[in-house]
Amino acid sequence: MSVRNATLCSPRPSAATLGETMIVETTLDLAAIPINHVAIKVDRFGFSANNITYQALGEHPHFRYFDFHTAPTSELAKTHGLIPVWGFGTVVASKHPKITIGERVYGYFAPTRYLVVPVSPSDVNKHAFYVPRPNLPPNRRPYNQIQRCATDPTYSAVTDAENLTMLYRPLFWTSYWCEDWLYSTGCYTPSDNSKVSILISSASSKTAFCLAYLIQKRIGNGELKNTKVVGLTSTRNAKFTENLGLYDEVHEYDTFRSDGAFQMQSERQWIYIDVAGNGLLNKEIQRHFASSSNGRVVKNVSLGVTNLQPTSSANDSMKWSHNAFDPTAPALAPSDARWPKTENFFMPEWLSVRKHQLPVSEIFQRQLNAWGSLMKDCINWVELQPVLGAKQVHDAYTRLAKEGLGPDKGLIWSLWEEGVAASINGKL
Ligand SMILES: NC(=O)c1ccc[n+]([C@@H]2O[C@H](COP(=O)([O-])OP(=O)(O)OC[C@H]3O[C@@H](n4cnc5c(N)ncnc54)[C@H](OP(=O)(O)O)[C@@H]3O)[C@@H](O)[C@H]2O)c1
Repeated sequence: MSVRNATLCSPRPSAATLGETMIVETTLDLAAIPINHVAIKVDRFGFSANNITYQALGEHPHFRYFDFHTAPTSELAKTHGLIPVWGFGTVVASKHPKITIGERVYGYFAPTRYLVVPVSPSDVNKHAFYVPRPNLPPNRRPYNQIQRCATDPTYSAVTDAENLTMLYRPLFWTSYWCEDWLYSTGCYTPSDNSKVSILISSASSKTAFCLAYLIQKRIGNGELKNTKVVGLTSTRNAKFTENLGLYDEVHEYDTFRSDGAFQMQSERQWIYIDVAGNGLLNKEIQRHFASSSNGRVVKNVSLGVTNLQPTSSANDSMKWSHNAFDPTAPALAPSDARWPKTENFFMPEWLSVRKHQLPVSEIFQRQLNAWGSLMKDCINWVELQPVLGAKQVHDAYTRLAKEGLGPDKGLIWSLWEEGVAASINGKL
């Protein structure tokens, strides 16, 4: 059966001239997919600054986000890549003996209507199947996993539960494992018993405020004492960030150095978690802590780069190249003695460390508990904003690339027009 496919394709930073992000239509014969491949109808996917980072780091030699899915034609693949997206879909064709048509699945898909992927013949279990990507490092396995909803204890078929899952799952697990990394490596508990503040930039982003939420949970459970969570954000997002109620203090990029409440906290040790990745801001923060009367930064973690734009050059993205868990990564020399070297946190790498330290059943149970709490607590944090249809998604993307992202909307996109998804499903 031949179907029309539509795919959002983005220019490669390495292409001689940066073209436009565009919708490309192709024809796909579902009956002709190769052996050990499945075709997934990608119903909906979440979109946030995280996806813009995937795009900006698409050709970065460490991250290689454009190597997960390829553009629909080999000619186009020379100039364009596909931004990975986390979404839900349904298997609509299968040439794999253990995967059946009609299965609901969640995974690291592409912004397309139909996605054809290979599935390793042996790497299938009742919870998930895996896309073999021998070209990528083995610790990228979480990205290769396609989860089978029927056996996922956290899955709910309610549309909004799927929407919240697409939006939060990739970000929340980063926040969750980053918090686990800070806690389990003793960062919160200085030997001199001084008070600890965790300073988080781009505090209005979901990754940042989920981290604040998780630290507050630990404080609430009595596991942490004398700990404060402090958010740094832009003026336009300050109200939103304060209203979340997840930070003990919120300060603005433009005024934090003159904001009396941020000064004179010499008794505190600070952990800086940088989600913005803004070099100028980081210089200002460094300048602030150059004075010992403002406290001492003991850990300096790079968690994100919300400041990367869809049009960021390969050169911009190369700045984000140091890796805390890569022993071969060269150390950054601290530019002054009061500023610790930057450590990059990359969730798949820390999780692969934890898988050697904790039984899988414990990891599974911890995640189940954390996810259950999040789904109850997150309902009012952002308003879900669905965009349906290829042209509409293209327009929404263009707007977002031009105007940036507001924190109060949770973007849920689909290249399918409303109603079409169900009828196509029915026919197959
Ligand atoms: N290390 C990892 O393993 C990992 C995993 C997941 C996500 N991340 C990273 O975490 C970051 C946050 O992702 P998210 O999806 O949580 O973000 P999000 O919820 O979409 O956050 C949007 C926020 O980004 C900032 N922002 C947006 N557009 C901007 C622009 N054009 N210029 C400057 N700032 C802009 C604003 O925050 P402010 O006004 O508060 O600055 C805005 O509120 C991303 O860089 C993502 O790649 C890292």
